[in-house]
Amino acid sequence: MTSLGGLRAVTSAYTVSIHYDRRLYRQDIAGSIAHARMLAKQGIITSEDAAAITQGLREIEREIEDGKFAWRPELEDIHMNVENRLHEKIGDAAGRLHTARSRNDQIALDIRMFVKDAIGEVLAAILDLRTSLVGQAESNADAVMPGYTHVQRAQPVLFAHHMLAYFEMLGRDAARFRQAFDRADVMPLGSGALAGLPYPIDREFVARELGFSRISRNSMDAVADRDFLIDFQSAAAICMMHISRLAEELVLWSSDEFAFLRISEEYTTGSSIMPQKRNPDFAELARGKTGRVYGGLTALLTLMKGLPLTYNRDMQEDKEGFFDTYDTLFATLQIFADMVAKMSIMPYRMREAARGSYVLATDIADYLVNKGMPFREAHGVVARLSRYAVDRGVQFEQLSLDEYRQFSTLLDEDALEISVDSSVAARDVPGGTAFTRINQAVADAKAELEAENDG
Ligand code: ARG
Repeated sequence: MTSLGGLRAVTSAYTVSIHYDRRLYRQDIAGSIAHARMLAKQGIITSEDAAAITQGLREIEREIEDGKFAWRPELEDIHMNVENRLHEKIGDAAGRLHTARSRNDQIALDIRMFVKDAIGEVLAAILDLRTSLVGQAESNADAVMPGYTHVQRAQPVLFAHHMLAYFEMLGRDAARFRQAFDRADVMPLGSGALAGLPYPIDREFVARELGFSRISRNSMDAVADRDFLIDFQSAAAICMMHISRLAEELVLWSSDEFAFLRISEEYTTGSSIMPQKRNPDFAELARGKTGRVYGGLTALLTLMKGLPLTYNRDMQEDKEGFFDTYDTLFATLQIFADMVAKMSIMPYRMREAARGSYVLATDIADYLVNKGMPFREAHGVVARLSRYAVDRGVQFEQLSLDEYRQFSTLLDEDALEISVDSSVAARDVPGGTAFTRINQAVADAKAELEAENDG
């Protein structure tokens, strides 16, 4: 049994959120200043009071930024901490700030503003990572590697093609974050506790002051809605899923088994007992941290499930997971942008892996198809040819024309010229891995990045 004093400490700590919602101070203060200016403009408070409030809030912001603000857990949250301090500074005028406002629409405003800023940061970091991917594609334009299915060498592809696949994934991630931004970009203040307010307020003015493109249309929805946070968490979960796949490939490719690339020293660490090892810890941690980001999404969906309208205190639990997701994703993107830019590719090893395998089997089948054989039949011929080569422990290129022709007399001299390069070059369709297609894809990607940098 806990002592009564111990229990008191637990109960009073239970409702406190200031240790994490203090991160919303800038948004909270900007929202309050816009609100006070609106109240004065509408004649709801005097302009003297509004000026005192604005001045006091600016000072409080500076105190917080200088680390001089005394946070008080007994005041529970960011709103009460700021308002209380304002009262200490300007006296009774502080009591007029909360006219025509509730903490319910205030917190909805604060988080929406924070999410919009967070998305701006995330989009910039995604852009950096996409830039690094294109950079690697461009500087290793003729590196040929085996493409994989089932982690089995399947067909030769350009390393650049592989990098640009991640460029595409992250492009969709950016689009999802832009959609999340659009849905967060709705100004909820003026909803009051839930029903709207009995004052002649100007909501559009507040929206303009705070850079929102529109105001919410239903006061009950406005205080009860956290979809915009779920949008962020879900876009983040998908983005981390993509990064975890890239992370996994960097782990594999930097191993001695593959040795396709080396991760720069600053993103590896030594083993405590095996001096020869350089472990790809950053890639591994990114892969692992994907779990907590999924956790944030699951927690928020579960938190919101079945909540009756409108505000419920449960919703205070929306923030920690969101902050953690934002911090995790943002750091991961920044690290990957730099790690990808600095990794060194070993094209020779990639090419050897593509050559020392049977990745040209499909090309031989395609050769037979071009000579008129139905694909299914060609597939059977090449399966037998492959088994013959595998049994003798040789590559296709080590077989003689006579050996080839035991499997089909359609195979002529030029079948011996099928190579990883001819295989890549042949895949000259939109979206294919041919050199010309990838050169164009790199150029298109760079144009897209440039447009985004300008936009
Ligand atoms: N700290 C609260 C939250 O984060 C602010 C809103 C509180 N509203 C209320 N009616 N208790 O949700």
